[in-house]
Amino acid sequence: MNIAVLTSGGDSPGMNAAIRAVVRTALNLGHMVYGVKNGYKGLVENQMDALLHRDVSEVLQKGGTFLGTSRCDEFQQLEYRKIAANNLKNRNIEALVAIGGNGTAMGALKLHELGVKVIAIPGSIDNDVNGTDYTIGYHTALNTIVEAVDKLRDTSMSHKRCSIVETMGRYCSDLAISSGICTGAEIVLSKDYMLDNEKIYELLNMYYSQGKNHAIILVTEHTLDVHALAKGITANSSFDARATILGHIQRGGCPVPQDRILATRLGCYAVELLNKGKSGLIVGIKNNKITYTKIEDIEKEEKNNKELYEILKLAS
Ligand code: F6P
Repeated sequence: MNIAVLTSGGDSPGMNAAIRAVVRTALNLGHMVYGVKNGYKGLVENQMDALLHRDVSEVLQKGGTFLGTSRCDEFQQLEYRKIAANNLKNRNIEALVAIGGNGTAMGALKLHELGVKVIAIPGSIDNDVNGTDYTIGYHTALNTIVEAVDKLRDTSMSHKRCSIVETMGRYCSDLAISSGICTGAEIVLSKDYMLDNEKIYELLNMYYSQGKNHAIILVTEHTLDVHALAKGITANSSFDARATILGHIQRGGCPVPQDRILATRLGCYAVELLNKGKSGLIVGIKNNKITYTKIEDIEKEEKNNKELYEILKLAS
């Protein structure tokens, strides 16, 4: 079989490890692999080259994706998806492994409907893909946030300030809640777990009266204006406040071991599934077992981090 592999959407640490696992597993099982440049854009533009064992040496430990990635709006249109499917067909490539987030999985499903054999692998720092407990890159991003918040706590403590830290996650609060647990944050805010400003001031004043001389608030992006909140806290509570937006630094860095292991397990499994003639699936990890779900079913599942949020509140 000839198998193409691509990374699409926002990059995440561990994508290289996943590509490597796909390439090595496929070659070891007697298949050929083609690396597509820059995600679905490269598929439409017919940019792909054969990948051999040595082409994926020294990438396992590196952040980013050596294949490049993009967000390809054109791929929403059938016309462009047909071009992509034809490009594969003309090269005798019958299968594709697509590594990325929800958009990537949906793109893969559309190609499956055009007759390409596809397996999606969840790669995103956001941990917002259903069908898996964890996405590749999530734990590395979590690590980056925890390191940053630990540093912010040092200066917040010295200046007796409240530090508001905005994390990525798109609309998923996993990064904010888990980093909140890891750093002992006083408050976590996201669309699902919102407090009005008055309640935030009241909580901070209570913590102050209980002897806390500094505080950490973690906020998922797209929840509120963190700089405006800092001004409000300074004006209405006992704390002077500062806001920090961590931004794209959360997407970089060497993958932590958890992401390297997950990426390798999922990469191997994706090829094993193709080897068995399967298609239209997304691989994932549930209760530490590698598994798969039909891509068309992932939107029916619901991720739930309520228990984590309760733990955060109980232990704060
Ligand atoms: O999906 C990953 C992610 O980093 C989100 O957390 C964030 O909202 C988005 O991508 C940023 O996208 P871009 O790099 O295109 O600005």
